[in-house]
This record gives sequence, C-alpha cells and structure tokens, in this order.
Amino acid sequence: MRYFVTGMIALAGFAGCMAVEMPDAREGRVAYEANCAMCHGPGGRADGPLAGDLSVPPIDLTKLAQEAGGAFPVNRVLSYIDGYKRQAPEAVEMPEFGLLLEGPSVPVETGAGIMTPTPRPLAALLAYLESIQSEI
Ligand code: HEC
Repeated sequence: MRYFVTGMIALAGFAGCMAVEMPDAREGRVAYEANCAMCHGPGGRADGPLAGDLSVPPIDLTKLAQEAGGAFPVNRVLSYIDGYKRQAPEAVEMPEFGLLLEGPSVPVETGAGIMTPTPRPLAALLAYLESIQSEI
C-alpha cells in the first residue's frame, strides 16, 4: 500500500509537470522578431538591418547545431542570450537579455536529462532557434 501511495504521488507530480504548457516555436518567433531580428535577420541568417553597423558581425543562428556537431547547443545558447557567460572582448556588440526576458519559469532540458527552470520567454526563444536550424 505504501508503495502504491508513493507511486500515485509520483505520478501526480509527473502529471503536474506535464500540465505546464511549454512555449513553442511560434511564441518564440514573436520574441525573436522583437529582440533579435534587427541584427540576426528575419530568419536568423545574420542579415538584419543593423548587421552592417556592428563592429563584430552577428552570427548565423541557423548554423548553431551544425557548428556544435549536430545537436542544438541549448546550454550555450541559453547562457549566451542571458548574458552570464560572455567572453570579453569579442562579445561586446550583442546586448544582454537576462533582465528583459523574465517571466514564470518552465523546465528546459539543458543536457543529460537535467531540467533547468528557465524564464518562459527565453524557453520560447530556444524553441524558435531550434526550429530554424539548417539541415546537417
Ligand atoms: C545589437 C545586435 C544584436 C542583437 C539585438 C542580438 N544579437 Fe545575438 N549576436 C550579435 C553579435 C554581434 C554576435 C556575435 C558575438 C557578439 O558580439 O556578441 C551575436 C551572437 C549571438 C549568439 C552566438 C552565441 C555563440 O555561441 O557564439 C547567439 C546564440 C545569439 N547572438 C542569439 C541572439 C538572440 C536570441 C537575440 C535576441 C534575444 C540576439 N542574439 C540579439 C548581435 C546581436
């Protein structure tokens, strides 16, 4: 009986997690267009209207997975956008979005099954970026 109860609690907890509606690429696209497209371009190909004015060119966001060897590098992208893993001096042009992209957290898998609570707008952006990765 005890195991059954524990099992039911675990199941309920799991169902509770599943009930969190995850942001999808469409939601992320809106955030992308408002915050990123001016530099990274409407489809992420580094051809936004401001791209030519920057001292460092923006990178092609459709090639993140390819350059990381195949898998979309969730962790790297997440910390980069958030701004807490910048390597000066090259990382001077892109603004940090850590404070802008706040909101209720949703779980995002950041590798090896580890779920990291991530502000929803940031999770949406990740979903969008993952959806625009070019075929490898
Ligand atoms: C003002 C122009 C500008 C804006 C706005 C901008 N970026 Fe960038 N981004 C850059 C530039 C330039 C780089 C190249 C390195 C640097 O200078 O930071 C870059 C690099 C990156 C990288 C590369 C990280 C890596 O691993 O090398 C990612 C991912 C990225 N941007 C995503 C985004 C997202 C998502 C947004 C919107 C929330 C955004 N950028 C908004 C200019 C911009």
